[in-house]
Amino acid sequence: MVAGAILDSSGTRILLARRARPAELAGLWELPGGKAEVGETDEEALRREVAEELGIDVGVECELRERVALSDELVLIARWAHVIAGEPAAREHQAVRWVGAEELSTMCEQGYLVPADAVWVPELVARLRPA
Ligand code: C5P
Repeated sequence: MVAGAILDSSGTRILLARRARPAELAGLWELPGGKAEVGETDEEALRREVAEELGIDVGVECELRERVALSDELVLIARWAHVIAGEPAAREHQAVRWVGAEELSTMCEQGYLVPADAVWVPELVARLRPA
């Protein structure tokens, strides 16, 4: 599984998407992404998933430090990315929004993020430029 830490053009905000499913995660915000198919690199998977889910083309950069074991077979990683073309739209999510460092920290503290994604918050906050 690969998630995208997608930065805006100013480097001050990151893109979050609100999950529509499953029931236990619905309404919570995540770094958008999805599962790599057989023969696909995680970079290719991330570009395909955000094109399908959000209608944007992204450039994919290096991996964030933390990795999360979702199950015995499934590891969740995150890669830095930036928008090359398109405006993100919620095609499969309930909503999308851009958030700055302060807002991201508050959302995490208040439990609005999917649990796995909370591990990346310190690195995201450190990397985001102050607005
Ligand atoms: O998006 P999808 O339904 O394919 O994700 C499968 C699982 O991966 C979710 O149920 C969730 O446990 C996990 N996930 C996550 N954080 C993300 C993306 C997916 O924890 N940013």
